[in-house]
Amino acid sequence: MKSEVSLCLVLLVLSVAALPAASMVKGSPSSTAADNSLHLEGKNFYTEDFNSVLTKFSLRSPSAPEEDVCYINPGNADALSACSFNLTSKTFLVIHGWTVSGMFESWISKLVAALYEREHDANVIVVDWLNRAHQHYPVAAENTKLVGQDIARFIDWMEEKVNFPLDNVHLIGYSLGAHVSGFAGSHASNKVGRITGLDPAGPVFEGTHAQGRLSPDDAHFVDVLHTFTRGSLGLSIGIQQPVGHVDIYPNGGSFQPGCNLRGALENIASHGIFGFSEAVKCEHERSIHLFIDSLLHEQQPSMAYRCSSKEMFDRGFCLSCRKNRCNNVGYDVNQVRNRRSARMYTRTRAAMPFRVYHYQLKIHFSSKFNRSEIEPTLTVSLYGTKGDAENLNLNIRHKISPNKTHSFLLVTEVDIGDLLMMQFRWEASSSWSSSSLLNMVSSWWSDETPSNSDLAIHKIRVKAGESQKKMVFCSKDSPEFAPAQEVIFVRCQDGWDKSSKRHVTKKH
Ligand SMILES: *[C@@H]1O[C@H](CO)[C@@H](O)[C@H](O)[C@H]1NC(C)=O
Ligand SMILES: *[C@@H]1O[C@H](CO)[C@@H](O)[C@H](O)[C@H]1NC(C)=O
Ligand SMILES: *[C@@H]1O[C@H](CO)[C@@H](O)[C@H](O)[C@H]1NC(C)=O
Repeated sequence: MKSEVSLCLVLLVLSVAALPAASMVKGSPSSTAADNSLHLEGKNFYTEDFNSVLTKFSLRSPSAPEEDVCYINPGNADALSACSFNLTSKTFLVIHGWTVSGMFESWISKLVAALYEREHDANVIVVDWLNRAHQHYPVAAENTKLVGQDIARFIDWMEEKVNFPLDNVHLIGYSLGAHVSGFAGSHASNKVGRITGLDPAGPVFEGTHAQGRLSPDDAHFVDVLHTFTRGSLGLSIGIQQPVGHVDIYPNGGSFQPGCNLRGALENIASHGIFGFSEAVKCEHERSIHLFIDSLLHEQQPSMAYRCSSKEMFDRGFCLSCRKNRCNNVGYDVNQVRNRRSARMYTRTRAAMPFRVYHYQLKIHFSSKFNRSEIEPTLTVSLYGTKGDAENLNLNIRHKISPNKTHSFLLVTEVDIGDLLMMQFRWEASSSWSSSSLLNMVSSWWSDETPSNSDLAIHKIRVKAGESQKKMVFCSKDSPEFAPAQEVIFVRCQDGWDKSSKRHVTKKH
């Protein structure tokens, strides 16, 4: 059902975009046939004539991050000093994606401002390929190769004529721009330091060989954020497969919090059909805002964790930091180069700052009787040294079977410090599955004698992802619980801690 909706959205976006693009194709002087001949010339015909470079390079300034005032075109060394290009500091090339409007989107100046905020002396260059991006999607996708070649010529010129060290070059590409970065990196004579792909585009690129898309070969280090990879019939706006050294899938790479359909409808109500495409872009564009967040909030990095699947992560199994299993999201990522791409996962808040705190809860439900599996709705409140997080929903994806240990992922938006106490509550009203109804009825029969209730939690083992601390909690009073009841858990006494410690460490 949901995937059908998303397919419709994709198709609608494609058709909305086709309207203005149709008129562009005829009028545009950069027809693809002419561009292909350039492609065939290759590097052997490399001359000082840069007239064929149609892509524009605009050095933005910290004081006016939204204005194009100074262009640095390859071959024109005078522009470097005229634009106050700093030859000793980092250079970022910000590369946009496919465009429906033919204009820069508002995130560009936000990203430029955030880069300058973080790296005061940097050169932030906005790569302008709007003409070639303002086409039917397949044409724009094909154009990414040509734009990549233009950027490669810019990079080669910078290295050969200006002696600019390529380790200081960081390409940041969004959507189609991520693949432009890849082509730029692979066509340049030497490798640039880093490419960041922000939700690289999926259609046309998914499943193609490494030379035909962004890949780890394109720079010394390639990191990627995937935020809109919800696929249906193989169609996903963001690419689903890992394409870098580190590939992070915030919130599983789909369904970003704050980008719900209601938000989309509100956006359409206030902005019409353009509001619609804005709303659909929310999840795609979230990758950019996560990156901006990492630039602006260096002290509060979001952590991502390596995991074999979204499902395992959602059950809390992957909160380990051993052997580079965890990493920072965004700008401050540790440059770990694994032989195989590492899929990493994280949860986020709905707005900036996006950071959350991850916990794994391992709970052993015990029962005297061989009862059927149940699906209780459990809410948890966490109380810590710095703050509280109350009424969090424990996401029960699998039915609870008695005398088994179940693992859960729980996240808090606030830093609660060291966890001191937990309160569990079995919500009686919100669960209507037949087994829990039966359960409620049986607990009514048992009247006011909760000791008759036979589901109990004696111990909870907790692992905090951000601090990597492990703790064991014991029930404070009675471990038994039934619908509409609360149970309090506190840190176990020393004896408990020791006896359980053996058990916990054995798991590794
Ligand atoms: C250029 O950048 C370096 C740091 O990379 C800085 O020390 C220097 O002051 C900058 N020069 C100018 C003219 O801003
Ligand atoms: C519990 O009941 C199930 C069938 O409902 C049965 O397969 C299982 O062997 C029983 N387990 C015990 C320990 O009695
Ligand atoms: C669960 O374990 C307890 C204690 O070991 C035992 O008494 C009880 O029969 C078990 N329940 C089931 C359903 O196997």
